[in-house]
Amino acid sequence: MANPIDLRSDTVTRPSQAMREAMANAEVGDDVYSDDPTVNSLEERVAALFGKEAGVFTPTGSLANQLAIRMLVAPGEELIAETNSHIVRAELGAAAVFSGITTRTWPAKNGILVAEDALEIARPNSGPYLVSTTAIAVENTHNFGGGTVQPLDQIKALRKGADEIGVALHLDGARIWNAHVASGVAFNEYGKYFDTISVCLSKGLGAPIGSVMLSTKERVAKARVWRKRYGAGMRQVGLLAGAAHYALDNNIARLSEDHRRAKELAVAIAAVDKSFVDPALVETNIVGLDLANAPYTAAELATRCRDAGLWISALGPKYARLVTHLDFDDQQCAAAIEILKRVLVA
Ligand SMILES: Cc1ncc(COP(=O)(O)O)c(C=O)c1O
Repeated sequence: MANPIDLRSDTVTRPSQAMREAMANAEVGDDVYSDDPTVNSLEERVAALFGKEAGVFTPTGSLANQLAIRMLVAPGEELIAETNSHIVRAELGAAAVFSGITTRTWPAKNGILVAEDALEIARPNSGPYLVSTTAIAVENTHNFGGGTVQPLDQIKALRKGADEIGVALHLDGARIWNAHVASGVAFNEYGKYFDTISVCLSKGLGAPIGSVMLSTKERVAKARVWRKRYGAGMRQVGLLAGAAHYALDNNIARLSEDHRRAKELAVAIAAVDKSFVDPALVETNIVGLDLANAPYTAAELATRCRDAGLWISALGPKYARLVTHLDFDDQQCAAAIEILKRVLVA
């Protein structure tokens, strides 16, 4: 089918002509020798944005998360995270496979952090019999929670509680840009509460690839060694960092458009059946559909949509997801709504 509307993820965007020009014109060097000026300036720029000492550029958000976790948690210790967090559900057991880290989880409605629920399961210094908790991960925005924004008061409460028991905090900020635009909370305010942070340039910001892991100089220096050990020491990747700089210059404020369109989709879907989604919970660019009351599965819905020219994700038997992005405009939004109105009706 010609020009399907692709709402499977915000990772499906293609670099614009202007972004490609920024890539082509980027100054480069061998980044394994720290000689790539565009990568160096990107790492410094993102670190400064979040009030952190240093950053290391990685090809993926998963690697940025894994490097961060590795810096906080020793083999045989545990990281706790929300039940549906990306680190636990979608990184294919990487923390266990690469770093000998176990995970335990607490559930949160729509992924929204309630600090005391996380702190309640934390077990630091558990001695020789039980696993000791050494870090807690928070995802903001929460992908499988439906792009939900973590409340700042809960983040603060978590930091306070974690300090009291000597546990570190990691932020999976793959979509922290969306959280910032939706909440108005400054990046360096978010940065204050976490020991390590991962951010992605390749999601809502539209770069073709790239994430940054942020922390202290010491942790980032160690993470650089592990990045190379994992085989992700890259060479003239200023070409990619050039895209990331372009994305930071041009694509943050416009995320509000993605949020508005996601809300429009949610309102239209709720008008068909309000059990599918609560538009009030759609704060950013992700619309999660709870199909518990529908006579079809998420996979069947995705097939119906696809046949009509709209691509969506089926992430669970009864859970579907639509994600708005840079390559999705008002005209496509109107067309997507028409398709959804037709296919959602049983
Ligand atoms: C919340 C979150 N964290 C991390 C990642 C990992 O990013 P990547 O696909 O670049 O490994 C994703 C990807 O969708 C994500 O949604």
